[in-house]
Amino acid sequence: MKKTLIITGGAGFIGSHVVRLFVNKYLDYRIVNLDALTYAGNLENLKDIENAANYTFVKADITDAEAINSLFAQYQPDGVIHLAAESHVDRSITDPNAFVQTNVMGTANLLNAALHHWKNNFEGKRFYHVSTDEVYGSLGETGFFLETTPYEPQSPYSASKAASDHLVRAYGNTYGLPFVLTNCSNNYGPNHFPEKLIPLFINNICNKKPLPVYGDGKYTRDWLYVIDHARAIDVVFHKGGNAETYNIGGFNEWQNIELVKLLCEKMDEKLGRAPGESAALISYVKDRPGHDKRYAIDATKINTELGWAPSVTFEEGLAKTIDWYLANTEWLNNVTSGEYQKYYEAQYHN
Ligand code: NAD
Ligand code: TYD
Repeated sequence: MKKTLIITGGAGFIGSHVVRLFVNKYLDYRIVNLDALTYAGNLENLKDIENAANYTFVKADITDAEAINSLFAQYQPDGVIHLAAESHVDRSITDPNAFVQTNVMGTANLLNAALHHWKNNFEGKRFYHVSTDEVYGSLGETGFFLETTPYEPQSPYSASKAASDHLVRAYGNTYGLPFVLTNCSNNYGPNHFPEKLIPLFINNICNKKPLPVYGDGKYTRDWLYVIDHARAIDVVFHKGGNAETYNIGGFNEWQNIELVKLLCEKMDEKLGRAPGESAALISYVKDRPGHDKRYAIDATKINTELGWAPSVTFEEGLAKTIDWYLANTEWLNNVTSGEYQKYYEAQYHN
């Protein structure tokens, strides 16, 4: 094998698409998927590649420094692509400490392990930290997040991601750890856990349940198809400059309520329902505390310097996403049984 890469969080939504892309594209890399299999991690996401010769799954928790160190000793990775995180803003509001533990302490453990095992011989080594645009805070009506935008995180989730970004850059600056960092906008696509807006609403539409729009629904997010994010991670991992940051996004802003109406229209078509049937499920509910108004990424740098651009339009991506959920009802039923019901009750019925 030419290289060994540890991909953390590879059983989650984005991580599973990254693992699949690397396993299928780089047959001479050994891909080690390191994941704790929390509620958000699901090996069903990787059924199609689980027996690939260049793929290994390891169940481990990044908050366990000792376990992480021994895995680095065992696998001797040349690179780390770090996606493991607690990722849902609403959960960060009810349990911020879990976010500090995994996102901050977990990242510190990985950085320490990389530093220790690479022992100042950084030739051919790279620590890739996957982050979010939410670290930049909330935009007004105009403007975009640039790589130089000052950090102003507003939720426990974004604050914990911001802290992890700072740690990565500090290890680069202080110890010379070779790193690259990306901040991406909201993803959507297959295997997205149905606690986030798009998959939650697809699931509720299928089950004719109310669609809980927070506040007035006039919050704006910038949506990118998950496979395009995975493609960007591939490009940045292989071609990105050392200690560089790249913003990733598709210049695709939607107000929540407009997006929900489009989703309802498309779902009615796919399910053979009368126009307006799903939109009648829209129900305005109590707003999220500290709700960020608008996110929008300026992705010029990754486009001009590395040649990356999204491969699908939003309409195409959304159609593929709906088709995937309609074809994978077993996946959806499995992840929405058990614990999910308790989460749903606590989040939406109090
Ligand atoms: P996800 O919640 O779907 O998956 C997270 C994965 O990490 C799961 O497989 C989970 O089991 C694993 N994990 C959680 N805690 C762990 C721990 N302590 N040790 C080991 N594994 C652990 O998340 P996602 O949406 O796929 O996001 C992946 C990364 O991308 C995160 O770092 C997130 O901040 C970032 N990101 C997400 C988005 C988005 O729209 N979802 C956008 C930009 C950046
Ligand atoms: P989400 O998918 O949780 O992503 P993030 O908060 O990280 O951007 O939410 C996307 C937007 O949708 C956000 O403005 C909150 C809103 N939202 C709802 O209106 N209702 C919901 O049930 C959820 C989960 C989100």
